[in-house]
Amino acid sequence: MHEKRFINGLVDDLRPVFSTRMILVAWVPCLLITVLHYRTLAEYAWAHDVLRRLYYLPILFAAFSGGVRGGISVSVFASLIYFPHAFLSLIARDPGDAIEKGLEILLYNIVAVVAGLLVDRERREREKQERLAGKLSEALAEQRRIESQLIRAGRLGALGELTAGIAHEIKNPLHTMKGTAEILRDAIPSDAPERRMLDIHMEEIDRLAQNAERFLRFASPAPSDRRPLDLREVVQRVASLVETQASREGVTTEVTRYDGGEEPVVMGDADQLIQLLLNIAINGVQAMTGRGGGTLSFSVFPERHGGKGYFCVGLKNDGPSIPEDQRERIFDPFYTTKDGGTGLGLSICSRIADQHDGLLSVRNLPEDRGVEFTLALAAGGGNLA
Ligand SMILES: Nc1ncnc2c1ncn2[C@@H]1O[C@H](COP(=O)(O)OP(=O)(O)O)[C@@H](O)[C@H]1O
Ligand SMILES: [Mg+2]
Repeated sequence: MHEKRFINGLVDDLRPVFSTRMILVAWVPCLLITVLHYRTLAEYAWAHDVLRRLYYLPILFAAFSGGVRGGISVSVFASLIYFPHAFLSLIARDPGDAIEKGLEILLYNIVAVVAGLLVDRERREREKQERLAGKLSEALAEQRRIESQLIRAGRLGALGELTAGIAHEIKNPLHTMKGTAEILRDAIPSDAPERRMLDIHMEEIDRLAQNAERFLRFASPAPSDRRPLDLREVVQRVASLVETQASREGVTTEVTRYDGGEEPVVMGDADQLIQLLLNIAINGVQAMTGRGGGTLSFSVFPERHGGKGYFCVGLKNDGPSIPEDQRERIFDPFYTTKDGGTGLGLSICSRIADQHDGLLSVRNLPEDRGVEFTLALAAGGGNLA
């Protein structure tokens, strides 16, 4: 066991020293120089001088591509292989003088160490810069996400207040009108033709009051009651709620199995999160209606952004893409492209996501394969911002 680990470690250590690049730029030239050197006759002293110094090239190349480790491997190899040629009279002798040759060997190694150290330092520096750049771009992306969420929330807040103001102003006089109409109705005989008109009048008052009530509810939503929730259960619930309507429109509902390691638990208000996901699911079914069916698929998955852990619910449908210039507008209150739509669904979703410190986003799937909404909530229930 121990030996195996040692051998694996050694192989890992040696791999950069014997990379293809190292073999081509250092080992092969080193061997060629050696062969030439050994085969050159002693009377060509100048050739021996040149060949001896030629070793610096593979040593420097090795340091450039393999750092200190690469440089020293080649310089030690060159020293050992040159040594017998330099000093042993048995083999064709290098004609230079002994001190000079000794110094040369020393220099091979010094050059290798110095060049290698410089290259290693440069490499470490570059890696540090790259790591920093990676972190920076991650932080910037996170900031952009939060910014767009805040812009959306600000727009919602202002419109919400306006809506609440108008709804409130409408509700009070409506109340009075309803009261007076009731008194008038008692005064009109039930078979008189005016009675029918008064009934219509009262029905319209009721309808207006209901609308005002809905806008008020939108403007001041109920506070959320957050508890630990398993997102898989929330998703199952929503899927079964939407199933009947979906199958009537020829849409299949599917829930992808969760395969993250950790339990997908978040702090949330179950009713509000169900309302949010149901709104999105119904929009998805509506987007596929009249297209001969499609698939609405739910998934739960973990994600990391800017060093924080999230659990997300993804809701995909294979209806038409949302035009790019309208992708953010769909969250605006009263923005709708449907006959009889209120345009309030997604703005309510956005508000619920805000109340949960969550992030709600939408993207078109590549090649017009549909639309995916993602709700990201802090894992375990911590706050995002
Ligand atoms: N899954 C989707 N695919 C395509 N467009 C969508 C989808 N969901 C929402 N939209 C667009 O966003 C608009 C606003 O949706 P919403 O706020 O729920 O209001 P409504 O459903 O009443 O129109 C829709 O009218 C539609 O244009
Ligand atoms: Mg809707």
